[in-house]
Amino acid sequence: MVASVAVALASLAGIAAGHTEHGNTLTRPGDARYHPTRHPDRIVLIPGADAARQAAVSWRTGARVRQSQLQWTRAVDSPGLQLSAITVMGQTRPLKSGNGLAHHHSVRLSGLEPDTLYAYRVRGDDTWSEWLQFRTAADAFKPFSFLYFGDAQNSVRSHFSRVIRGGFRASPDVSLLLHAGDLVNQREGNHDDEWGEWFEAGGFLHGMVATLPVAGNHEYLTIETPGKPERRVLGPHWTSQFSPPRNGPAGFEDTVYFVRYSGVLFVVLDSMRALDEDGAAAVQGRWLDDVLTRDQSRWVIISHHHPVFSVALGRDNPALRKHWMPIYERHGVDLVLQGHDHAYGRGHNVAEGRNTVGDSGGPVYVVSVAGPKQYIAADSARGGLERIGEDMQLYQLIRLEVDRLHYQSLTMSDRVYDAFELAYRPGEPKRFIPRLAPGLNETRCANPTPPRKTRCWEGDELTR
Ligand SMILES: [Fe+2]
Repeated sequence: MVASVAVALASLAGIAAGHTEHGNTLTRPGDARYHPTRHPDRIVLIPGADAARQAAVSWRTGARVRQSQLQWTRAVDSPGLQLSAITVMGQTRPLKSGNGLAHHHSVRLSGLEPDTLYAYRVRGDDTWSEWLQFRTAADAFKPFSFLYFGDAQNSVRSHFSRVIRGGFRASPDVSLLLHAGDLVNQREGNHDDEWGEWFEAGGFLHGMVATLPVAGNHEYLTIETPGKPERRVLGPHWTSQFSPPRNGPAGFEDTVYFVRYSGVLFVVLDSMRALDEDGAAAVQGRWLDDVLTRDQSRWVIISHHHPVFSVALGRDNPALRKHWMPIYERHGVDLVLQGHDHAYGRGHNVAEGRNTVGDSGGPVYVVSVAGPKQYIAADSARGGLERIGEDMQLYQLIRLEVDRLHYQSLTMSDRVYDAFELAYRPGEPKRFIPRLAPGLNETRCANPTPPRKTRCWEGDELTR
């Protein structure tokens, strides 16, 4: 059933024969660089709703592999991992692309022990992947760090690779990788090469550090049918490659979910559908309100693709301020991590028009970008946001301690572009503490020949 839907969707979108547009990847027309083989690739680990006990693994093979098979065990000193390994079967779904017919596999693991190191491998055609190791989340609050990336989207292998690898180099013990939407550029067509580049950019990290994927506008395909209104459908790669917990509201299970990780609540929302479909923002808002009402986590972090407060010239999403922002403020959400605007922006208490250092209250809103597509920031955004930047690829390293959240946004020359802390004190309001060195200038677009008035770089001119 699932497989037939995926194939039907592929043919519906006319994407079976599609290949990457020239320029947006390092692959050249006619190449089939990312054709699926007997060897498992695109291995990605996603935490379950209870990340102390549940996880899901997805991977890709050629079509000769008809069963989804994974072996897992507690990590041991001996290389004889297979002696204690348990075999688990999962789901397989076909997906045809310009790189050929692939089988995408997924296995859900449950009954794991909290804060425990595991090893697993996945099956190919008469072969296996390497053993990959990961640690489950703790049962109660335990300090950890994670990386947050804005849009990778364009020239992913050429330019996003240094960002995800730079983040890992800066903090190799991170527990999560959060991608705030537009992981690749696909909009129309299959663009399997772009997904190949995304997985290659992060390499083994995707299989050993749990990923939180957020769907952006580019995760949706535009379907044009003569005589009918244009509509968007979630690209088949998303559901083939990612297995989030599926605990979102009915009808939103593919892209809306929450994960409890070591005493911290992460909630992922679908801002594309919120902005595109009548009622979709309200449905997600009611669900979020319910999740937050029942939640006792130490920190609450929300991510969606489109910003509540836009940075880029000519952009605004008032529906998110209407439907979601009051819920964030009512429940004391700590961070809202976003993308889409291809620039950097961070604001604190922007809703109240009070950016006074030391103010307590509302969440800190961040927009960031990891890939090379770079937009120009709007002057109006400078009035509301505290830190803005253009023409930079960034990653954010966030460390959570029981009474303090440490945030840093870092550039590809290892510069700290933004930094702050949030401090909790028992019985007192949360405090925002700026940690930027004084006198730092705002980085502005330095491209002498920008492609458009609103853009510093398109991002796909850089691989030629
Ligand atoms: Fe976007």
